[in-house]
Amino acid sequence: MDDQPASSIENSGASADVHLVLHVNGGDREIECDQRTTLLDALRDHLDLTGSKKGCDRGQCGACTVLVDDRRVLSCLTFAVAAQGQQITTIEGISEMGSGTALQEAFVNHDGFQCGYCTPGQICSAVGMLDEVKRGWPSAATADIDEPVDVVLSDTEIRERLSGNICRCGAYVNILAAVRSVAADTGQDMA
Ligand code: FES
Ligand code: FES
Repeated sequence: MDDQPASSIENSGASADVHLVLHVNGGDREIECDQRTTLLDALRDHLDLTGSKKGCDRGQCGACTVLVDDRRVLSCLTFAVAAQGQQITTIEGISEMGSGTALQEAFVNHDGFQCGYCTPGQICSAVGMLDEVKRGWPSAATADIDEPVDVVLSDTEIRERLSGNICRCGAYVNILAAVRSVAADTGQDMA
């Protein structure tokens, strides 16, 4: 498409390298990589943005969560080539996003981590989750899904909506408290 950044593919035997332009944290970054490179590997290995973590590399832990066009995605399951032309926000750029800084501070104030390995993914996921709530997107825990959905954010809702992010240290109680406090501070209906 005309408005897509240019990319080129050169076949060289078994592998094919691509030149990509990724819009990351407000700026264009160019990389050369194998066309099968995941967004997570592109961020960590090509752009030195190591805040996004590789936990399982198969979509099961949420440690690699980033925002693409403000929606949370698992970067280990996303090809970098498919993220061209979209706004990618990692934990390094999250303070630019509305509730990003507040969540980072709340995680510190509520002790929402121990080793910290899952924390970047938890915070990116929480930013995306609070935005989904604001848009009235229901979750599996939402009782009334008649349009327009007015989400009342209970602890069950928060747990369900962040259930894709695993914390091996078991800091869930404090993560819940951190997210709750930020949601309440922004005027969200709470239960
Ligand atoms: S590293 Fe992506 S979900 Fe675990
Ligand atoms: S704080 Fe260690 S995995 Fe969550």
